[in-house]
Amino acid sequence: MSAIIIRYPLILLNLKTYEEAMGPRAIEFAKIAERVYEKTGITVALAPQAVDLQAVAESTEAPVFAQHIDPVKPGKGTGHILPEAMAEAGCEGTLISHSERPLPLEVIEATIKRAREADLYTVVCADTVEKSRRVAAHSPDAVAIEPPELIGSGIPVSKAQPEIVRGAVGAVKGVNSKVRVLCGAGITDGEDVTAALELGAEGILVASGVVKAKDPQAALMDLARAMQRWKPPVVDVVG
Ligand code: G3P
Repeated sequence: MSAIIIRYPLILLNLKTYEEAMGPRAIEFAKIAERVYEKTGITVALAPQAVDLQAVAESTEAPVFAQHIDPVKPGKGTGHILPEAMAEAGCEGTLISHSERPLPLEVIEATIKRAREADLYTVVCADTVEKSRRVAAHSPDAVAIEPPELIGSGIPVSKAQPEIVRGAVGAVKGVNSKVRVLCGAGITDGEDVTAALELGAEGILVASGVVKAKDPQAALMDLARAMQRWKPPVVDVVG
């Protein structure tokens, strides 16, 4: 269990299969995540490749997520990622059905169930508002709206497609107000983060904007500082 707990607003840094973030370099990103938390109080969770996960989890207090797990049970099973094995390796949570590792809805449902049995936090990715509504019905901890065409583009979803972020927030909260909403794709700087939070997102998923930055720590710090500065709008409660 990591010492840094999952708090919102949240940054989830997906290391994907970037060579810049594998092996010992994955541990470097974990140290950066820790330093950013220490300076800003913003939780930065990170999702290394499965092969790097245990070494990363043992090297950091930051929450570590799997990029994928399989809805299998202990026992006869070859070539799958067992949820309990991920938890044993120090994993706090998992992405489910990222657009680069998409799953059918029935497998998403089964994966959420198995993740819960292994006490793993679940962030289910959705590429449309309707998909976010459907996955919210299975009560993951969070839904992350990410239009695939913007992933890796440097064109932030919060500015290019604000309606999809706002729509996903409304759709998810309309199904279950306890399910958190993150957004991702093309987010590279603090302005993109502020725009996402103003649309109702409670955090971001980010990858290339940090992993491929000239100075990854400075890039991640800029995102976290924007979260630190952001103040939710005061809602007048009519007496
Ligand atoms: O999981 C987040 C990822 O898909 C976003 O990618 O490179 O646009 O930040 P990127």
